[in-house]
Amino acid sequence: MIILGFDTSCDETSVSLIDVQDKEPYLKIKILSNIVSSQVKLHAKHGGVYPFLAQREHQKNLPVVLKKALRQAQGKPINFIGVTVGPGLEPCLWQGINFAKNLAQKLNLPIVPVNHMEAHILANFIGEKSQQNSKKIFPAVCLVVSGGHTQLILMKGIGKYELIGETRDDAAGECFDKAAKILGLGYPGGPAIAKMAKEFVRGRASIKLPRPMIYQKNYDFSFSGLKTAVLYDVRNRSPKIGKSKEYIRAMCFEIEQAIIDVLIHKTLKAAKNFKVKSVILGGGVTANNELRKQFKEKIKKEIPYSKLHIPDIKYCTDNAAMIAITAYFNQKKATKDWQKIKADANLKI
Ligand code: KG4
Ligand code: ZN
Repeated sequence: MIILGFDTSCDETSVSLIDVQDKEPYLKIKILSNIVSSQVKLHAKHGGVYPFLAQREHQKNLPVVLKKALRQAQGKPINFIGVTVGPGLEPCLWQGINFAKNLAQKLNLPIVPVNHMEAHILANFIGEKSQQNSKKIFPAVCLVVSGGHTQLILMKGIGKYELIGETRDDAAGECFDKAAKILGLGYPGGPAIAKMAKEFVRGRASIKLPRPMIYQKNYDFSFSGLKTAVLYDVRNRSPKIGKSKEYIRAMCFEIEQAIIDVLIHKTLKAAKNFKVKSVILGGGVTANNELRKQFKEKIKKEIPYSKLHIPDIKYCTDNAAMIAITAYFNQKKATKDWQKIKADANLKI
């Protein structure tokens, strides 16, 4: 089965073609193409994403990215189309939806509307080894951490999700982005902070930031206080120190570790309480190497009976391959009543 996926939920225009072969109990998911056109350079000038600017870029990029994706997939006939309908930036979502609808009408293909958060979870099923043997995987606890969301989800199977916790204010990725802006490190903040944190030499200047809500008896998060703590610390330093490489490295190290500590603590608490068979990570922040490493170590030590699933780094940040896979698992939603497909910026899982 060949599926064409589109994602334009934020600042990446992405188109992908995948080939799914269902040979029980194995499911082979092959990525034929996964083209991601990033608008990072454009938005970096503004220190964040401007929805209407992003929409215009999607409009410009979609035909080019589609052409590349089709060329790479070498003319394989498409069975259906999957497109992100939410959550995301509304003008951007509509751009992708309308483009997908036009194409679907031209080719007389059904469309499957896709939830972007579910796609970040199902990105874990990419690969030749992907197992369909759900007894080994579920129940699972999923941590989805992106620029707009931080959610803990109890997953009893594909399509069976229960939101057990989420951020009450900023998302983890947003905290990385805002803290980087305060430190003058540009956009997106996650990779910039990770790079500086890696250069920090332990034992030198040390900074202590809060770990918001870490010991509270719930699965919710809060990251806006962490960003404010960064702002106050910077303001309290002399301009010379506040701008020094040594200070910025120490601060980046502490920001990264504070976010990792909270994410790991709450996820492991949920994993233990719900006695899950696996922990599933997804979303842009899970591209963070330190987070990946520490999750691996902690799970091995504290809940060795649970298996950790993290997508390949290239499938953590926004991409259309994960949208196509999610469309595969939601085939029953396929429709040729194209007008029914609508954007929902606040779509819930
Ligand atoms: O999933 P994603 O690509 O887009 C959304 O759906 O929001 O996530 C983007 C977020 C940004 O906030 C970015 O700073 C963060 O993921 N991010 C990272 C890293 N790479 C991207 N955060 C920490 N470390 C990284 N290496
Ligand atoms: Zn995303």
